[in-house]
Amino acid sequence: MITQIGRTVATNRPNQRETSTATPSPKARAQPGQVSNWERFCRWVTSTDNRIYIGWFGVLMIPTMATAAIVFLLAFIAAPAVDLDGTGRVLAGALLDGNNLISAAVVPTSAAIGLHFYPIWEAASLQEWLANGGPYQLIVLHFVIGIIAYQDREWELSYRLGMRPWISLAFTAPVAAAVSVLLIYPIGQGSFSAGMPLGISGTFTFMLQFQADHNILANPFHQLGVIGVFGGSLFCAAHGSLVTSAVIRQDVGEASALEKGFSGWQKPAWARRPSPTYSFDHAQANQEKLLWRGMRFRSSRSLHFFLAAFPVAGIWSAALGVDMAAFGFDRFSGWSAEGYLQKTVVPTWADITTQANLGIRAMKSSSADPFPLWLDTVSETDSATDDVPHHDLNQACSPGREPVC
Ligand SMILES: [Fe+2]
Repeated sequence: MITQIGRTVATNRPNQRETSTATPSPKARAQPGQVSNWERFCRWVTSTDNRIYIGWFGVLMIPTMATAAIVFLLAFIAAPAVDLDGTGRVLAGALLDGNNLISAAVVPTSAAIGLHFYPIWEAASLQEWLANGGPYQLIVLHFVIGIIAYQDREWELSYRLGMRPWISLAFTAPVAAAVSVLLIYPIGQGSFSAGMPLGISGTFTFMLQFQADHNILANPFHQLGVIGVFGGSLFCAAHGSLVTSAVIRQDVGEASALEKGFSGWQKPAWARRPSPTYSFDHAQANQEKLLWRGMRFRSSRSLHFFLAAFPVAGIWSAALGVDMAAFGFDRFSGWSAEGYLQKTVVPTWADITTQANLGIRAMKSSSADPFPLWLDTVSETDSATDDVPHHDLNQACSPGREPVC
């Protein structure tokens, strides 16, 4: 049954389980009352009664995602070190090489491979394939196919349930982001080694590198992405608060028509319009006070559409910013990393830790002369302008002590 253009309703489904009345092809012809194995397989794949929906796109998604997941786990645990920049200096990313869950990563394919397709059979040996970071390419290429198939499977399931395809459309945002950092950025930069490493620290390394190379924080497309994500969180929190603050008290004493024994035809449970649980108008009135006058939605539908579309549009935009940087368009933009960096060293958390460690070592090395004694000597030699007496520093640097200067 078609109720709107392009919108089918789930009541179609039961008919499809019966033997088709159309003339079957000679191959698929079965005895009356029986269906061919192929037909049964098709019904199983497209059935919405399975515990987890499979679907035709699931037939593509399951093997690609399983391959990506298994190879990722194996490489994350045990892959040997990879010659990432193609100079022979290897980078160890596996847990078995001494990394922890934060620092471990699947290291990207070597710059020596560039953008060449590098499956196992292209390498001279498995060792060569591993040393050049072959697993990264294998995982990423399967994963990209897998998430796109997942997105299409969402559309497929929505179609079979008679829903409109907004869930699939929303999922294009994370797909765009993943494809940008795993595939488009490497293509633009000419090498898979420029892709995002598959690990926690590796992700942050990628981000810091990206900022240094492209000044992405100044890119207005990235800024729209930040507005989308943080604004979306704010709007969701505000919406939840407004709804729970406008909940309607239900009279539990009065039995519903259903409980009173209403007989006759009834809509199925999912199609029955429930009595409202909160007052939309009260929530909107409060929203106007919370934000600004005139900031109200006409209907719950337009409100929830905005709530979904806002962060999705933001992530699309942020992915576009990465894609621009991938092909070097940021260089013509006025917000490029040139001029912004000015070759200055920015102190980081690591510098502070190094400073603290040096201080602790200095304290330990001069344990014979603790601070009060130093202060005494300072007060004795009033003429000295230095805070620390020189002979103590010399002692600290003498042979047999740890060098601190
Ligand atoms: Fe809601």
